[in-house]
Amino acid sequence: MLELENLSRTFGGLKAVNNVSFRLHKGEILGLIGPNGAGKTTLFNCVAGAIKPSSGAIRLEGQNIAGYKSHRVCRMGLGRTYQIVRPFNNLSVFDNVVVGALNRSRKISEARQMAREAIETTGLGPMQDSLAGSLTLPGRKRLEIARALATGPRLLLLDEVMAGLNPTEVEAAIELIRKIRESGITILIIEHLMRVISSVSDRIVVLHHGQKLAEGDPGAVLNDPAVVEAYLGEDFLA
Ligand SMILES: Nc1ncnc2c1ncn2[C@@H]1O[C@H](COP(=O)(O)OP(=O)(O)OP(=O)(O)O)[C@@H](O)[C@H]1O
Ligand SMILES: [Mg+2]
Repeated sequence: MLELENLSRTFGGLKAVNNVSFRLHKGEILGLIGPNGAGKTTLFNCVAGAIKPSSGAIRLEGQNIAGYKSHRVCRMGLGRTYQIVRPFNNLSVFDNVVVGALNRSRKISEARQMAREAIETTGLGPMQDSLAGSLTLPGRKRLEIARALATGPRLLLLDEVMAGLNPTEVEAAIELIRKIRESGITILIIEHLMRVISSVSDRIVVLHHGQKLAEGDPGAVLNDPAVVEAYLGEDFLA
């Protein structure tokens, strides 16, 4: 579905993403983890066309999309959420999702239909007429997912959609992510909560200083001494 080959992105002298390669299979949930500043969001931004990679290939179903602009990548079926959510506060929840859908479809009737489906999936129905600015954090996170879903993605990139949620809200968000996968959407997810990552991911990739430190099934990766040392800390094992 998605293949990164020697992907790199530098900012001046900083190698934010450094020669990273991995594959994401169709129907899979792949967790992307690593310490603050490891390059996770930069990698997402390259894949989603928000920034250009310095070098390397990004193949979406075989086609190299490295350097494509975000709207083009979006139309090819790639949806993403932003780590920092910025809804249009003065628009309703529903209209915010319609704006997302308009990235994919130019027809307003079609966009409204896609928005209705995304609202339904994310359980935002009761709040759809409220102003987005009135939503609490879990509501805003859901709205961010709904906006991405409304673009009709086959591949969805989720950047810390559970940060700041309480345990009950996290459980609900995990359920939502599983439901999205069951609808046939492949998922690449960044999250710092290990409980979440290990329970939703089929496989995990660990970044550290821009490089891939480990890759594999959650049990093995989270017990890998290099991962414990770089990211999890000894407390995690104890
Ligand atoms: N636009 C930019 N200009 C300069 N440096 C940047 C830019 N974006 C990111 N960086 C730097 O690149 C490195 C990787 O940042 P990135 O945001 O990708 O990390 P992250 O893994 O998403 O971290 P976090 O877990 O804190 O979200 C950091 O050192 C960051 O300061
Ligand atoms: Mg980030």
